[in-house]
Amino acid sequence: MTRQFQKLVLTGATGGIGAAIASVLDREGYSLLLTGRNEEKLSGLKSTLIEGQHQQVLADLTTSEGIATLKAAASDFNACGVINCLGVNELVMLSDFDSEDVTTMLSTNLQAPIQVCQTLLPLLESQSEAVIVNVGSILGSIGYAGSSIYCASKFGLRGFTESLRRELSDTKVRVIYLAPRATNTALNTDAINQMNRELGNAVDEPGYVAQELVGILRSGKSASRYLGWPESFFVKLNSLFPQLVDKALSKQLVTIKRYCDVNKTEQSLCKPGGVS
Ligand SMILES: NC(=O)c1ccc[n+]([C@@H]2O[C@H](COP(=O)([O-])OP(=O)(O)OC[C@H]3O[C@@H](n4cnc5c(N)ncnc54)[C@H](OP(=O)(O)O)[C@@H]3O)[C@@H](O)[C@H]2O)c1
Repeated sequence: MTRQFQKLVLTGATGGIGAAIASVLDREGYSLLLTGRNEEKLSGLKSTLIEGQHQQVLADLTTSEGIATLKAAASDFNACGVINCLGVNELVMLSDFDSEDVTTMLSTNLQAPIQVCQTLLPLLESQSEAVIVNVGSILGSIGYAGSSIYCASKFGLRGFTESLRRELSDTKVRVIYLAPRATNTALNTDAINQMNRELGNAVDEPGYVAQELVGILRSGKSASRYLGWPESFFVKLNSLFPQLVDKALSKQLVTIKRYCDVNKTEQSLCKPGGVS
């Protein structure tokens, strides 16, 4: 059987979810252009993949040079799809957010995937069939205390992806939005993990997210998929009755604030000059 979208660009390939996606897609016979900023991690990941014809490209996608590098590499690779899986996160109240970190989070989680889609679109539209997957988050549909900038970036990514799907609905480019709930990767600090345990928030393994993505790719459809129960239900409830969700989440505020403080202490200990 001829497989569609055989050659995909994977941004955030070195991350927890990205590496799991790479591993599953490798077994499915896809070839990947693996993207990240750390050469050692990229080479290490590539050496674990044995089935496909994979390549790697070093690019900081928050820079115009990084976007241009990816565009050239994707064109040489003749990619017919892209999975945007890069991202950063921080648990912090807005009043404590460093303004440079705000810029980094918005440019990594929102501007970079938009620019990747825009720069690769002519290549994708030249293919007989193509796919764009943007990895968002349940927090792209539910505003959460301590995550205002992360939520802003992921709400933006969801809106962008939905618009793009409608804009490209008369083309051969499928557009998919995949929204995981909390997932066990290095994106989450110890404080976030402890908070999730205390609040009873379920945490998925990256392999599960990767399998769900493969299922959507196989379905041949454009889609938005929200992972996890009750999180996927809360997405719907929040859009219909946000006051109910305001009320439920207000009960978590004291706990969230406490872990924002723990996170602040952990971060300051990691900064140059901090106590170690
Ligand atoms: N983990 C969760 O709980 C969770 C839940 C919902 C949604 N998500 C979303 O899932 C996606 C993957 O998250 P993850 O958990 O796998 O995170 P992760 O393990 O921290 O990996 C993040 C990835 O982003 C890449 N990256 C960061 N900044 C970059 C930049 N400026 N240019 C290029 N690449 C950059 C990193 O590459 P380097 O090697 O260059 O650092 C790494 O590959 C993100 O969009 C995240 O928001 C995660």
